[in-house]
Amino acid sequence: MTIPQMNPVLSVRDLATSFFSQRGEVQAVRGVSFDVFPGEVLGIVGESGSGKSITAMSILRLLKASGRIKSGSVHFDGQDLTALDEADLRDIRGNRIGMIFQDPMTSLNPTLTVGEQVIETILRHRKATRAEARARAVELFELVRIPSAAERLKSYPHEFSGGMRQRVMIAIALACDPKLLIADEPTTALDVTIQRQILGLLKDLQSRLGMAIILITHDLGVIAEVTDRIVVMYGGLVMETGPVRDLFARPMHPYTRGLLASVPDLRDETHRRLTPIPGSPPDMAHPPTGCPFTPRCPHAMRQCQAALPPIFGTGHGARCWLHHPDAPSSFTSSSGGEVSAQRRVRGPSS
Ligand SMILES: Nc1ncnc2c1ncn2[C@@H]1O[C@H](COP(=O)(O)OP(=O)(O)O)[C@@H](O)[C@H]1O
Ligand code: SF4
Ligand SMILES: [Mg+2]
Repeated sequence: MTIPQMNPVLSVRDLATSFFSQRGEVQAVRGVSFDVFPGEVLGIVGESGSGKSITAMSILRLLKASGRIKSGSVHFDGQDLTALDEADLRDIRGNRIGMIFQDPMTSLNPTLTVGEQVIETILRHRKATRAEARARAVELFELVRIPSAAERLKSYPHEFSGGMRQRVMIAIALACDPKLLIADEPTTALDVTIQRQILGLLKDLQSRLGMAIILITHDLGVIAEVTDRIVVMYGGLVMETGPVRDLFARPMHPYTRGLLASVPDLRDETHRRLTPIPGSPPDMAHPPTGCPFTPRCPHAMRQCQAALPPIFGTGHGARCWLHHPDAPSSFTSSSGGEVSAQRRVRGPSS
């Protein structure tokens, strides 16, 4: 999908969030900026610990007590969410911004029927009678393709499979027609076939309802077919951002290349990772001054450790010194070749 020029639904600028404890400060998010446009699916990807969930939690102001937004802004619908009080935020969460998390079992109340939980969400945010809310709940279950919708409202969460529970969570997230849906690893706990069904459902709902979606995952392969643009995060920073096709065809950042090379081959029944990136992510209690990927990067130069690169490029850009106008050109000129095989495996169809 081509994104026409329009105002973003969500604008995150220079967002920095840290956790404070006796051990000191953990700099989970270190100045993240991105936009989400109406009707697009934005993927946020990166290995575990790169700051994806804390970015989402900061947007929704759902941080634990030890977490604090240190700086930056989050504009949604003309308001800066970082400046709102708790009462106004409650009106936005679950209403104008829907949320889905990884494990529906911990998000659903095991003591209430799923129908009760959907109806409760509707009544919390909308002026409706119980009967109207119930009718809407049936409609929502049909929308997320839960068979025998009216019947299944009477079931408890444990009576559903993992995939069906995630559909219930999606129904709850959609209950109030949100403008934006934030889905954090919504399919990670599910097997590969169910994952694809749920992602297909999200994409279908996005085009039918016209909302914007932020889809967070550690698996770049999973989201190639459903996202319009991708933000790659590492060490609490945006490393690369661009339209999904460009990013798969011409990854600019060595980290993105590493992620692409580690995408499992779906034709291989073991779904094994091809080539994992050697090494491990930085300790965010002591983030490096320079590029956080330096110890793992096959292209690292002296400059990389000394200073954090800015993002080079607009539209499709990367935070990497290799894209400085005076950098040696071997990396950029060889872009694309080594990942073209990956693209055939899981890249967006052209
Ligand atoms: N409650 C917490 N207290 C201290 N550090 C935290 C807390 N939650 C997350 N972090 C740290 O913040 C960083 C980013 O975490 P997170 O956003 O959850 O990563 P992911 O990309 O896997 O979603 C990690 O280094 C993690 O250890
Ligand atoms: S800035 Fe340097 S270390 Fe970081 S990704 Fe680019 S080349 Fe590698
Ligand atoms: Mg996470």
